[in-house]
Amino acid sequence: MIPALTLMAFLTMTSAFSAPKNKPAPTSKKSPTITLKRLAKERGLLVGAAVAVPELFEDPVYEKFIRNEFSIFTPENAFKFDALRPSRDAFSFETPDKMVHFARLNRMLMRGHTLVWHNPAALPNWFLKGKFSAKEKREILKDHIQKTLTHFKKAAKGAIICWDVANEVFHHDGSYRTDSIWAPVAAPTANAFLTQVFNWAHETDPKLKLFYNDYDIELPGPKATAVYNTLKALKKAGVPVHGIGFQMHQGPDRITDLKAIRANMRRFAALGLQIHITEFDFKLKDSEPKESALEKQALAYADAINLCKSIKACKAFVSWGITDKYTYVSRDNSGMGRANMLDFELLPKPAYYALRSALSKKADRRD
Ligand code: XIL
Repeated sequence: MIPALTLMAFLTMTSAFSAPKNKPAPTSKKSPTITLKRLAKERGLLVGAAVAVPELFEDPVYEKFIRNEFSIFTPENAFKFDALRPSRDAFSFETPDKMVHFARLNRMLMRGHTLVWHNPAALPNWFLKGKFSAKEKREILKDHIQKTLTHFKKAAKGAIICWDVANEVFHHDGSYRTDSIWAPVAAPTANAFLTQVFNWAHETDPKLKLFYNDYDIELPGPKATAVYNTLKALKKAGVPVHGIGFQMHQGPDRITDLKAIRANMRRFAALGLQIHITEFDFKLKDSEPKESALEKQALAYADAINLCKSIKACKAFVSWGITDKYTYVSRDNSGMGRANMLDFELLPKPAYYALRSALSKKADRRD
């Protein structure tokens, strides 16, 4: 473990991964450029981030960083229900197809995100205000899952390797979100609901790896246990669930009990589930002094990638956002922000170099 204060010194000493402050990573004509994706590949991992549109198509610096550095990405909002569904009968795939095209052109993979989410931020008014019966909601959701996955089966030609089928189905205390707008689709339990939606997804595209995705489940606790027990029961019943997404939104305090996270992740892996870290970010308080906050953040990014490296079933690390310029964090969390690996000018922060440094070393253990 590197003490926080010496991190910058350490990164500077490991010359292959150092860069002058506020300058982009050095490149050499002789050797291939060291990128996150190249280092991650050597560790058997995919590395990437949530990608925003229209920024991807409008900001060439942002686009180039994504293309150069990442092997996988998640559309931040473009594949959500509201984005795909202008009305009950219509689907809109124009922007998603452009993202898929970008991925294929650059030999990148994608995580589909997300088919079922209760959050009004991702639901259109026609649905929120529609007063649909349970039977109608069931038809709407079945249709949504089937038509969406049928479309991408053809359009993505394998570039989308997995989908977060269900997102955030449990409350913080581990109880099932029966107040979710989608819950009546298959009541009354999380088990019944997830069985239904995962089966619809699997029937439509049997090649996809299907994930359950949630926040605050990395440390053991009532929520992690509720998700664990449910997925265990689903697996036992033969429901096609293949992976667990640990969102891992973090900050401003660094989690120190990494052993507990590792043990928790490994019990999910023991169920036969693939693990992805799906939405990593590390928020800083606006009031925190810049240098020490950035060093703490860098250590937290390294912690997360080291966790993934140390668990065989962990195959991908995805951060939620790339640059502090385009981020949802400052909008949703007042007094906090700067959670990403590039700063407001899209220049690498210590977090970026910490990822590189961590990825450059073999894991102590991988089991
Ligand atoms: C967020 C996006 O980043 C925002 O732009 C949007 O307004 C709301 O959704 N958990 C998830 C993500 O699974 O889909 C959320 O993304 C962040 C929390």
